[in-house]
Amino acid sequence: MSAPFDRAMTGEVDGELGQEWAVSPQAGDEERVVESALRPHSLTEFIGQPKVSRQLALVLEGAKRRGRPPDHVLLSGPPGLGKTSLALIIGSELGTSVKITSGPAIERSGDLAAMLSNLGAGDVLFIDEIHRIARPAEELLYMAMEDFRVDVVVGKGPGATAIPLEINPFTLVGATTRAGLLTGPLRDRFGFVGQMEFYEPAELQEVLARSAALLGVDLTEAGSAEIAGRSRGTPRIANRLLRRVRDYAEVEADGRVTREVAQAALALYDVDHLGLDRLDRAVLEALVLRFGGGPVGVSTLAVAVGEEPTTVEEVCEPFLVRAGLLARTPRGRVATEAAWRHLGQPVPRGGIPLGRVTTDPPAPGSSSEALFDA
Ligand SMILES: Nc1ncnc2c1ncn2[C@@H]1O[C@H](COP(=O)(O)OP(=O)(O)OP(=O)(O)O)[C@@H](O)[C@H]1O
Ligand SMILES: [Mg+2]
Repeated sequence: MSAPFDRAMTGEVDGELGQEWAVSPQAGDEERVVESALRPHSLTEFIGQPKVSRQLALVLEGAKRRGRPPDHVLLSGPPGLGKTSLALIIGSELGTSVKITSGPAIERSGDLAAMLSNLGAGDVLFIDEIHRIARPAEELLYMAMEDFRVDVVVGKGPGATAIPLEINPFTLVGATTRAGLLTGPLRDRFGFVGQMEFYEPAELQEVLARSAALLGVDLTEAGSAEIAGRSRGTPRIANRLLRRVRDYAEVEADGRVTREVAQAALALYDVDHLGLDRLDRAVLEALVLRFGGGPVGVSTLAVAVGEEPTTVEEVCEPFLVRAGLLARTPRGRVATEAAWRHLGQPVPRGGIPLGRVTTDPPAPGSSSEALFDA
């Protein structure tokens, strides 16, 4: 088998951040192993995402009835929401095998051509982080997706010739955390695009109940509510916090995860009731207590908490913004009223320094965020 298959799933450089933070949405290498044991194996086992899973069920059922592989599927959304799980489910629902690779692992178009020509009829090819695929490979993929054909180039320079090669009809499942980085032509070739949403606390409680049963953890309803509320809408974080709380419950209590046990464990791991960790709170505290709520530039903020600006920007801010605690403005970062309240500080008289919150048109590469009027 060709090299990219062997390196399946290891291409995520972003995964490195996963190890340190209890509430990072990314998974570390060890965590990926644990996760595979907790993956749902069918659409009925897959919790939440009602829209995507119902639409997908129809796509798959229709294809099965016609006896043809379904349209190519693109799954997009933040890390840890179940894209890989769904991709594997598509294979098992169709009863076909799934070949797994990732965008960064496909360096040359030849790698991809080899992979495509090895696919059996109706197989699923899962390309994780598909937005990171190299350009020449992407172009090869267009033709494969459309006509189930690849051009294999033989020779070099002016004498090179392209030999068309038929491949078996297959279904491409692409996953991406950055749908905005996908080129138009690639995006257009997917017949179905599933946009994954953050989970509601009740859905996370279902995820937790399922994981607890699989791991043999005695999890009470109140204990699960406590964990779900701090999981940032992300099943991966919920499962990770469950494992940490279980350790605590076994060592410091009788193994049963009650509300009190969950609270004590999560306090120990510095995850507060909104799911903020130490660094998130440090950023907010610096912003509110040292800079009077802002506006302050991200690099100043980063120095104040002793971190790299990119860490603050990529690790802390997305959730702080989503939780409505921090706003990005043209003049810098600003703490919202909710941030002052979350830190137990009196909201400044006359409100927040920059006044009214408005919604600006989304900046390129960022999701729509509440911005302040400058
Ligand atoms: N709907 C769900 N029901 C039950 N468990 C889920 C669900 N979604 C995700 N999980 C759990 O969360 C973990 C992470 O999910 P998964 O690896 O599929 O996320 P992902 O979107 O592919 O993340 P990444 O972008 O980092 O690749 C899995 O171990 C899985 O058990
Ligand atoms: Mg994944």
